Amino acid sequence: MKTQGGSSDAKRRAGESAANLVVDGMVVGLGTGSTAAHAIDALGEAVDAGLDVRGIATSYQSRRRALEAGIPLTTLDAVDRVDVAIDGADQVADRHLLKGGGAAHAREKVVDGVADRFVVVVDSSKTVETLSRPVPLAVLPDAEPVVERAVEDVGGDPELRTATAKDGPVVTDDGNLVLDCSFGPIEDPAGLASTLSSLPGVVEHGLFVGMVDEIHVGTDGDVTVER
Ligand code: 5RP
Repeated sequence: MKTQGGSSDAKRRAGESAANLVVDGMVVGLGTGSTAAHAIDALGEAVDAGLDVRGIATSYQSRRRALEAGIPLTTLDAVDRVDVAIDGADQVADRHLLKGGGAAHAREKVVDGVADRFVVVVDSSKTVETLSRPVPLAVLPDAEPVVERAVEDVGGDPELRTATAKDGPVVTDDGNLVLDCSFGPIEDPAGLASTLSSLPGVVEHGLFVGMVDEIHVGTDGDVTVER
C-alpha cells in the first residue's frame, strides 16, 4: 500500500526498528503521523507481551492510536524524564528535519526536544540533500495576517493550510492556524529557524535543527540506522 511519501512497508520497518529500542520502565514520546503510528502499534504489541512502558502523546491522533494499542499514557508534568521519543518527519537533510505535515510540530518539538534520545523514523523518500518543502508555522489565529506579512518580508511565500480547497482552515490541537511557508531550498536551516522563531505570533515552526540522535530509514526490504 502506498501512503504519503514512501510505501507503507518501508514506514512500518522504520517504526518497528525504533520501537525495538524501548525497554522496560521507559517513558516514550509518541510522535504523530503514519510512520510514528507503526512504532506505536509495535509498542502496543510489546505491551501486550508484557513490556512495561508509559507513553507521552504528541497529538490527539497519537493519543488515540496509543490508547487503541493499549499503551498506558502519562504527561510531561507527571514524569522526571522522557527516555526516548520516536517521531516521523516530512524531510531529512544533514540530520535536520522538516516536520509539521500533521500540524503537530509544536507539541512534537517539546516532547522530542526533552527526550534523552530522539529517534526519527522515515521511509527513504524523505531523505534529501537540502530541505525544500514549505516550513509549517503554527500561528496564533489573531496574528495570522501579521505573520503572513512578516514571512513575506523575510523572503517566504505563506499559504494558510486548509483540509481541502473548500474547507476552512486547519486548526491544530492547541487551537492555532498553520501557515505553510515556501522558501525554496533551505541552505541555512539554523538561520531560518532563528528568523522564524523571532516573529511575533509564531507559536512554533517545523524546522528541527540539531535535535536528532538517530534516524531509522525504512525501504521496501530493509532499515538503515544513522547515528
Ligand atoms: C506531524 C509530523 C509527521 O511526523 C510528519 O508529517 C511525517 O508524517 P508521515 O510519517 O505520515 O509521513 O511532523 O506533525
